[in-house]
This record gives sequence, structure tokens and C-alpha cells, in this order.
Amino acid sequence: MSKIFLDDPNLGDLEKKYLTKTIDTNFVSVVGPFVPEFEEKFAQYIGAERAVSTQSGTAALHMALYQLGIGEEHEVIVPTLTFIATINPVLFVGAKPVIVDVDPIAWNIDPQEIRKAITKKTKAIIPVHLYGSVCNIEEIIEIARENNLFLIEDATESLGATYKNRQTGTFGDFGCFSFNGNKLITTGGGGMIVSNNQKQAEHIKFLVNQARDASKGYYHPEVGFNYRMTNIEASLGLAQLERIGNFLEKKRKFRRIYQEAFNDLPYIKFQEECNNASGSWWLTCIKIDKKNIDIDNLMLKLKDKGIPTRRIFIPASEMPYLNKYSKSCPNAYEIYNQGICLPSSTLNEEEDIKEAALAIKETLNG
Ligand SMILES: Cc1ncc(COP(=O)(O)O)c(C=O)c1O
Repeated sequence: MSKIFLDDPNLGDLEKKYLTKTIDTNFVSVVGPFVPEFEEKFAQYIGAERAVSTQSGTAALHMALYQLGIGEEHEVIVPTLTFIATINPVLFVGAKPVIVDVDPIAWNIDPQEIRKAITKKTKAIIPVHLYGSVCNIEEIIEIARENNLFLIEDATESLGATYKNRQTGTFGDFGCFSFNGNKLITTGGGGMIVSNNQKQAEHIKFLVNQARDASKGYYHPEVGFNYRMTNIEASLGLAQLERIGNFLEKKRKFRRIYQEAFNDLPYIKFQEECNNASGSWWLTCIKIDKKNIDIDNLMLKLKDKGIPTRRIFIPASEMPYLNKYSKSCPNAYEIYNQGICLPSSTLNEEEDIKEAALAIKETLNG
């Protein structure tokens, strides 16, 4: 079997070409033409008025909360099944995360749980489009409107996913993306925050650059942050953005290959998507609905066969410092206990995924 990749980045000649330009021009840091060009092209791709690059997806989420004035005395509703970086920024700004369960089908924040968790202090909701599966965004928008809440989409895992042909990340006040090494496209490490509110977005652009008013030299009228993307990172981002169509096609095709291969295994349940959505399937994930399934053991057996997998995120409720903020989350625990992420890197070819699927099937049946 050829080498199988889980979530490794896909870099090639185009990235080398753009990267070389940054060195040839000596623009390796935060000044240089690639940063504004990447922001512009990303905004166009997403269909948002403005995109502001950041040092990470975590920084993007932090800036969204900060810009909206969320702080002490406020509560922000978040799902328990996510990467920890969805929740930590809520604590950075001094607000209280209210951690709720996900639905058992798409594994995303459950609108009913959001409704139950709203109090007078609730200021915002951060839905996460987990692993590239789109949230029930229409209902979440409705809840936000009815209750006068801000909506910050954590679209770090769902770049390219759409709902009614509109990109995730464009439905709320802000949408946040990550270009970490394992994401659909990578800049090595980096993020983006998008908005249709030009004024707020420009203020974030100013905040991430130490809130510097360069017209007055080193003058800083308010507290700022150093959350800027570098020209080197943006060069990679531009190259990757040119290849995004092919990456997305592959991710979606890989999921279909797994679905076909596991068609006759009724105990395998794929993470699904809601109506009118087209997931990006950054990672294809399944639940193995078998009594006493030992995921760690399964992963070891697969590793021996050269198939890398990863566990579903440990529910955030499980973290000692977050436990007190959490509601009851049985669905997330079930997904964690039975779920697994399958090889999904675009470095794989269709044949590799077919072989991987067969080997996984053999192991499950064995
Ligand atoms: C759901 C989620 N939120 C936030 C982040 C944070 O992104 P970053 O690693 O770029 O800070 C990530 C990715 O790592 C993520 O998967």
C-alpha cells in the first residue's frame, strides 16, 4: 500500500514559486504585497466585504469577541465538541463560556440546547462547523435575531463548505478561519476574520497591528495586539487559494469513497450534514455504533497497517477549567467514545483512499 496521509498539508511548485518571491524581494515579515492580495482574494472567494488576516484562527476568534465588546458580565454559548481554541478566546476577554451539547447527526451545536442556555447575560453564540459539516445555520441565525445576540462563526474547519450556495463564515457578524498546517489550505500557521461590516473589519486590521496610527509615527490611541500575518505566510496562502477547488473536490470524493466502501456495514454512521448544505469534509469522520468499541485499540491496529487516524475531540466539558461552565452533553460523549477521523489529506489519491477503506473494513470485521 502507498503511504496514507491523515491531514498533512499539500504543498508544491506553486507554493515554492510564491515563497521564493518573498525571499527575492526581502519582504519576509508583515510588510509586503502578498498580505493585502491574500486578504482581497480570500474575501472574494468567500463572498465577504472584507477579510483581515491574523496570526491564527485563535487570534481571529479573539479579535471578533474583542471587537464586539464582549467581556466580563457576558456569556457566550459554544459547543462542547470542538477544538479548544473555540472556547479559550471567550475566557481571554473575561466572559463566561456556556458549553452546550451537539446534535447526534451532524455533530454540531444543537439549536435547542442554545435556546435552553440563553440568559439575560448571553451576548453571543459561536457555532462551529465541525470537520466541515455545516451547522443548522438558519435556525441559529433566527435564535440570534430573536434574542439580539451576536453571531461569530467558527469556520476554521469548514472553508469551502456552503449553505444554500453561500460560504460558511459569511452568515454572522464575523467568520473566523484557520490556516494551520492540517487545514484545507495552509499558510503554515495563520487565520482570517471576515465581515460585511467594513468599519468593524478595518478596526480589527488596526487592532492586530498594535493599534498603531502610523500617520503619527509610533502612536497608539488604544490597546492593540500583534496578531499580524507575515508576507511569507500570505504567499503560501495565495498559492493554496489557487488550488482550493481541487482540494475541495478531493475531500468530497474521499468521503463518497468511504461511504460506498462501508455501505454494507450498518453499524457505521457517517457525520452527516443538514439540508441545503454542502460540507467541505475537511476530515471524514464516522461513528462505530458497536457495543464496547475500543477506539484506541482500533487506531493501534490501523496504525500497524499504515493507516493514520485520529480521535474525535475530547468534549471541552472534560477540561478541568471548563467543567463548571458546561451543561449536560451526552451526545458529544457518545460521539467521542465511538467516533474516529479517517485519512483525508489531499496528498492521498482516490486509489489510496479506496485501499485505506478496504483495510479499515477488514480490521472492523476481523
Ligand atoms: C474548531 C477550531 N477552532 C479554532 C481553531 C484555531 O485555529 P488556529 O490553530 O489557527 O489558532 C481550530 C484549528 O486549529 C479549530 O479546529
